[in-house]
Amino acid sequence: MQLMKALVLTRFGDVDGFELQEVPKQEPKPHQVLVQIHATSVNAVDYQTRRGDYKHLVKLPAILGVDISGVVEAVGESVKQFKVGDAVYYSPQLFGDFGSYAEYHVADEQIVAKKPTNLSHTEAACFPLAAGTAWDCLVTRGQLQVGESVLIHAGAGGVGSFAIQLAKAMGAYVFTTCRALNHNLVKKLGADYVIDYIGEDYVEVIQRFTNGKGVDLVLDTVGGDTIGRSLNVIRPYGRLVSIVDIATPQSLLEAWGKNLTVHFVFTPQYRAKLDALKYLIERNQLRPVIDSVMPLNQVAQAHQRLEQGGTAGKVVLQVLGCLS
Ligand SMILES: NC(=O)c1ccc[n+]([C@@H]2O[C@H](COP(=O)([O-])OP(=O)(O)OC[C@H]3O[C@@H](n4cnc5c(N)ncnc54)[C@H](OP(=O)(O)O)[C@@H]3O)[C@@H](O)[C@H]2O)c1
Repeated sequence: MQLMKALVLTRFGDVDGFELQEVPKQEPKPHQVLVQIHATSVNAVDYQTRRGDYKHLVKLPAILGVDISGVVEAVGESVKQFKVGDAVYYSPQLFGDFGSYAEYHVADEQIVAKKPTNLSHTEAACFPLAAGTAWDCLVTRGQLQVGESVLIHAGAGGVGSFAIQLAKAMGAYVFTTCRALNHNLVKKLGADYVIDYIGEDYVEVIQRFTNGKGVDLVLDTVGGDTIGRSLNVIRPYGRLVSIVDIATPQSLLEAWGKNLTVHFVFTPQYRAKLDALKYLIERNQLRPVIDSVMPLNQVAQAHQRLEQGGTAGKVVLQVLGCLS
């Protein structure tokens, strides 16, 4: 049996639960590819899982990580779309058995896509989970149309920074919220109207700016009372998409009164959206926003960086050559 190195989570809690270990290197089954991981990135779900928010779904020891950019090292006998040496990017199944904090990963070919040719592995590792989620929210579920308006909460975050660019590429007018420090960044990404989430009330600002008409669509990436309050800034028959599990009950009375549609998204993994994103990336309509790049053996610091807030875009982890 061949072995590989991985940063393994051995207990839930603080960042000191990760251990560098040698674990079995998986063999690809007939419909799977074996990928040598060059880079991954940290997502909020990583630190949420680490601290135990999803302990009912995750068995320890576990290899976390839900973004991969790498190169195919071996293919199963039924694999049609990939060959050894292909550069690929994808997101492993959330809460699956194996994540990306490791030298290698095995995946069903249907969730893997060719990496955009104009991105390095470091850049490509920013995309799969966060940009794929933005795609599901705005395209598949939110069905944003040319000329519509959208409020994207947390525009400087991993999901939000891609959602702004995607909404602009789709021809929408984009409102977004972020702290003042990141206003220039989100404007450069394409936001038309930026609201300081610390000093301003987005409900009051949007009602004033739209003369009480409201926006067509809201993307909630924040949680808390965001669904309940955002209902006040959506036009009748408008839509809201939320990706955050709700800890506290909220009133949906306003949604009922205005005939709104509310979508809850738990992003599924499939190749088509990564291919669509690749198309936009290669036309320079989507670019990564990189907050910082660290080697995987500094995963503890990387988790702390994202968890404490104040980041802009993605925290990337380099994997190749960083686990010795
Ligand atoms: N359901 C799904 O499939 C799915 C997929 C991906 C992500 N998610 C979830 O979606 C959330 C966001 O993910 P992410 O990757 O974008 O996280 P992230 O990169 O950590 O970004 C979070 C952003 O939220 C901002 N923020 C915090 N409080 C805010 C507020 N009250 N108003 C406006 N912005 C606020 C933060 O800004 P500051 O740091 O400046 O405070 C930060 O920019 C996480 O809870 C994640 O688990 C769900």
